[in-house]
Amino acid sequence: MLWLFAGGITSLVGAAHTHHRHGDLVERIMHNKRPSSESIPDSNGTNSAQGTSNPSLAKGDVCPGANGTSYTSDANIPYQVICNIDFQGHDFPFQHVGSFEGCVQKCDAWNYINHHVQCIAALYVPYREDDADDCYLKSDISDPSDSPYPIQAAIRLTEQGVAASDTSASFSQPATSAESSETSLATASATLDTATMTSAISETAISATATATAAAATSATATSAAPSASESTAPNGSEPGVTYASGNEVIVPQVQTTHLQGPSQNTPSTQYVAYEAPSGITLANSLLMVGVNGDLSTGYDISLETGILEVNVSTRSLLKSLTDTPHLSRDGGQGGYINGEHLFIFCDTGSYSTTTSSSDGKFLGFTSSSVAIDSGMNGLQGQALNLVDGIGEWSDDVGRMRGFIPFTEGEQAYNLKMQGAGQRYAIWPESSIIPLDATSGIMFAPIVYDNVNQDTKAAVFTYTGATLVTVTAGGKAGPIATRTVKKIFDQDEVEWGCAGGIRSWGPSGIGGDDGKVYIFGNMQGGILLGRTNPADIADRTSFEYWNGGDDWTNTTPTSSSQNFFASGRFMDINVFYSPRHLTFIIVYLTVYADSTFYYRYLKADNGILPPFAPGGDRSSDYVENLYKYDWSDEQVLYKAAQGLSGKYIYAGAVHEGYYGSDDITNGGSKMLISWTAPTGKDPSSLVSEYQIITAEVDWV
Ligand SMILES: *[C@@H]1O[C@H](CO)[C@@H](O)[C@H](O)[C@H]1NC(C)=O
Ligand SMILES: *[C@@H]1O[C@H](CO)[C@@H](O)[C@H](O)[C@H]1NC(C)=O
Ligand SMILES: *[C@@H]1O[C@H](CO)[C@@H](O)[C@H](O)[C@H]1NC(C)=O
Ligand SMILES: *[C@@H]1O[C@H](CO)[C@@H](O)[C@H](O)[C@H]1NC(C)=O
Repeated sequence: MLWLFAGGITSLVGAAHTHHRHGDLVERIMHNKRPSSESIPDSNGTNSAQGTSNPSLAKGDVCPGANGTSYTSDANIPYQVICNIDFQGHDFPFQHVGSFEGCVQKCDAWNYINHHVQCIAALYVPYREDDADDCYLKSDISDPSDSPYPIQAAIRLTEQGVAASDTSASFSQPATSAESSETSLATASATLDTATMTSAISETAISATATATAAAATSATATSAAPSASESTAPNGSEPGVTYASGNEVIVPQVQTTHLQGPSQNTPSTQYVAYEAPSGITLANSLLMVGVNGDLSTGYDISLETGILEVNVSTRSLLKSLTDTPHLSRDGGQGGYINGEHLFIFCDTGSYSTTTSSSDGKFLGFTSSSVAIDSGMNGLQGQALNLVDGIGEWSDDVGRMRGFIPFTEGEQAYNLKMQGAGQRYAIWPESSIIPLDATSGIMFAPIVYDNVNQDTKAAVFTYTGATLVTVTAGGKAGPIATRTVKKIFDQDEVEWGCAGGIRSWGPSGIGGDDGKVYIFGNMQGGILLGRTNPADIADRTSFEYWNGGDDWTNTTPTSSSQNFFASGRFMDINVFYSPRHLTFIIVYLTVYADSTFYYRYLKADNGILPPFAPGGDRSSDYVENLYKYDWSDEQVLYKAAQGLSGKYIYAGAVHEGYYGSDDITNGGSKMLISWTAPTGKDPSSLVSEYQIITAEVDWV
């Protein structure tokens, strides 16, 4: 466990020489501007984009002629065309589509994958170079600005009868001033919020989109195994955006470039839920002893003083403003993608009062886990992340925290009494979230007993077992963690799942309920493998373990087992399938404290395809290949600069799926990594005790 390495070792690695990559939409357009002789032809054909049967639209057809008119997407979703207006920020992953209607299809597909409306505008930018991304999907259009460049935007309208003529009227009248144009756009955006809350998307319309998109993706990649027209129904939940390499050989993964994005900022939400938890239990003096007592985790209910509060019918009236902007200092943790949101998860988190460059904050409180979302998806534009902690995470108006993963009443009561003397239970979510289905993920988080020796001040961390946490996201309160099993694996067992795992999606595709869940056991010499069915995840007796040969056994391996599917001294582990390379890649830090991310790939005899991929074997479990082949030699993925303090980095994470269809896990070339860099500064200072730093890695 990484915490045991604290202190002493410093990294010898110098600063990585990487560039900031910057650029909002306009800058990107300027950069890729074509000579003016090739500018977009005027169409002057007014209503070519109107009505439910859209004639096929060639590049440039909708603007400026159709400005303000309605447009119905292939999935029968009504949009309104707006020409040459840019909307700043709030981007989902950029995509390359080549047409206005293709871009609107991407918006519909994004909403379909995420099961509710998140994309409310599609901006097609025909100016972009041939193979550059030309489609921008937006989650927010509250910041419109006139653009000198041709942008063909489609803005989603409510299904229930915004009469096309009404809306065209409001947009087709020339705006008399910038202000009036903003007003009409603000009205559109208010209508759209209602749509988000109330509209159910028509099933038939959606499957038509998914089918069309999947078919388009297939033809674009020209794989040798294109599905026949008869099996063109997209499997449920599968991402329309996944692109597979052609051919049936493994393609050797190589890194092309990397871009340092820099240290993330924390921006707490401005509201909290003013819920006063009933005071918890009091433990008998005989239980307030130094030493591990596993019953405190297993024998008590979940504490109402901890964990994220939902914003729902019964708590909505309790929403109040935070009076301060709390300062946070935190480390560790990885993250994951759930229900359309990218989560960044942390271990020990201290709250401080508002901190400025000239005045340090006052310590307010401490939790062992917290969670945030990168608001605006800044990493997509090469910028440092803006991490927003959710409304449901705070326990008071100045920013003390309830924490992400709840404690039991036993753990909480013990901590309240004993923490001041140096003893506490911590729950540290150290690994990436393992996706479970379309809307939830799981984590196996170690429950650690932390005992500070009052003479030497040295902390001694004892692993006491793992709790199974189910994570959901997408609500107003922020991501929510539930302890599905208070302790699923015990103190003397392999630390199953605490180093993460991998979802083996079944024939129904990404987000489906079939397939298997694999979990890792990270040992001194390598990684063990266990697995179960997704529906049985909470039943520890349902797990089977790879026996080192061709078989699986229900007998749990002992802590001396050597049945490693990958050998080495790993610290933070992410294993994922890469459709671009038709094989698996493992990205990790080692225990050798060199501030370096490494990778290896699985040297399979042939390219590996999941059962839901075009040409994939529907009866195969593609993740079983992990133990069937050798792993390549270790390669350097990214050398991080050591922390400001000169200490090595840790908590190395891959944020799978962050770049959408451009992401390495969806067949694209990009990957977001993050790590913790100790600063050597006081946690109450503006720079904090730790920085959470991100970088983009671009594969060949
Ligand atoms: C389109 O209309 C504009 C303004 O009315 C006019 O200047 C232009 O010549 C027209 N273009 C075509 C191709 O008809
Ligand atoms: C399209 O209509 C909007 C709203 O009326 C207006 O602000 C914008 O300038 C128009 N675009 C063009 C190219 O005429
Ligand atoms: C896909 O979803 C539909 C509707 O929910 C369901 O009827 C169908 O059985 C599902 N198909 C698969 C392959 O899971
Ligand atoms: C509303 O949220 C609170 C706080 O998370 C929770 O305790 C309660 O069960 C929720 N109520 C409903 C009706 O979902």
